[in-house]
Amino acid sequence: MESSPEAMPQPPSGRYLLRTFGCQMNEHDSERIAGLLEADGMTPVTDAADAQIVVFNTCAIRENADNKLYGNLGHLRPLKMANPDLRIVVAGCLAQKDQGKIQERAPWVDVVIGTHALPELLDLIQRAAEDGPQMDVREYTEIFPSALPAARESAFKAWVSIAVGCDNSCSFCIVPLVRGPQKSRPIGDVLAEVQGLARTGVTEVTLLGQNVNTYGRDMTVPGSARRPLFADLLRAVNEVEDIRRIRFTSPHPHDFTPDVIEAMAESSRVCEHIHFPLQSGSDAVLKAMRRSYRSQRYLGWLEQIRAAIPEIAVSTDIIVGFPGETDEDFEETMRVVEQARFDAAFMFQYSPRPGTTAGTMEDQVPKEQVQQRFDRLVALQEQISRACNEALIGARQELLIEAGGKGGLQGRTRGNKLVHFDHAGDLTPGMFVDARITGAEAHYLKGDLVREAASVR
Ligand code: 5AD
Ligand code: SF4
Repeated sequence: MESSPEAMPQPPSGRYLLRTFGCQMNEHDSERIAGLLEADGMTPVTDAADAQIVVFNTCAIRENADNKLYGNLGHLRPLKMANPDLRIVVAGCLAQKDQGKIQERAPWVDVVIGTHALPELLDLIQRAAEDGPQMDVREYTEIFPSALPAARESAFKAWVSIAVGCDNSCSFCIVPLVRGPQKSRPIGDVLAEVQGLARTGVTEVTLLGQNVNTYGRDMTVPGSARRPLFADLLRAVNEVEDIRRIRFTSPHPHDFTPDVIEAMAESSRVCEHIHFPLQSGSDAVLKAMRRSYRSQRYLGWLEQIRAAIPEIAVSTDIIVGFPGETDEDFEETMRVVEQARFDAAFMFQYSPRPGTTAGTMEDQVPKEQVQQRFDRLVALQEQISRACNEALIGARQELLIEAGGKGGLQGRTRGNKLVHFDHAGDLTPGMFVDARITGAEAHYLKGDLVREAASVR
């Protein structure tokens, strides 16, 4: 449809394209963005040329995210020139970080909506149609995105937000700046959501928070015992009938407590997997990162967790090349990684972020050195991941079937490992089956389905 100065602004209708960058928080928020648009009668498409609304839900955690956004916006410019009724929305962490700069650099963007303003999405799009470019980068979450309608990616798996924001100030991290202080959701609200999900056929939930161990701290009376509530929450979610798998991400080694290990061990639905970010094996670097645990303490937690839950799989995050990281520091990381024997690790090259303390530290490590260290770490971890996976050969594992690449199927173990198996015709995503593990690579397993009636549920 052509627009003319006399024409009434058109309400949004028709088709939308949503692209999500970054972490699970963003995926969770994107389900709400999609939910709001679909509640307004829109349907999803995969090509910007077919869309009336394009939303980028952005990430700011590393620098290349910025370049990606402005590149993507550049590609949309000709479409907007050809169709002024196209509404372009930038949401998420980069929107919160760059604010007015986005529309300065890309004046064809209609709406900039920060991490706390999602409930305003439809209003902002409507107002942009009537009055021109809009921006809402308010600083505080009043309504949890969880309270908004959702269009979920999966019918059987769901993210459940237990807290937004973060009260820590790890010196490399932009999250507290773009997501604000921690705000926990009342246990009753979390439980009601999980119960509602179970009624719609969801069998796996992942509880989401930047630092799940401090869940609830902001809800207790200041000056009181300030008892963290995460273990209580795990136990309560474990009681919800028809939920078969509970995951959570992420705990912080500093705030970790033994009651969480007990709750994990005693809650049969809580999966045998923990994502436990190490970040560095060097105590000097951990200190400079303002992460207040030390490597021995970290390894001590791992020992306790594995003693209580022997079959647990452990994954982690590691940053290479934090400012001031010496060869010695890096060797410490290699040593801790060897000792920790992670099943999987997400490894990152340090990326300076504006507004963080580390971003302006002087002793940034040269790029080539970071790359060399990174390559060595990745090679070591691949070896360890492969060995951990090989140890599962011959074991029987429960799989939750997911859709796989090229229309195929694959399954995920309770330890969060992907298993490829030969496709049996009558299986569909969402079913539980058992498989015998027959092969192992660094990043996935191979298995044969166990063909017994009781093994398919
Ligand atoms: N540079 C590199 N990696 C980072 N992460 C967070 N901030 C940065 C940064 N500035 C990594 C951390 C975190 C994960 C989500 O991203 O390892 O745990
Ligand atoms: Fe960032 Fe540290 Fe908070 Fe995690 S705990 S979100 S790394 S500041």
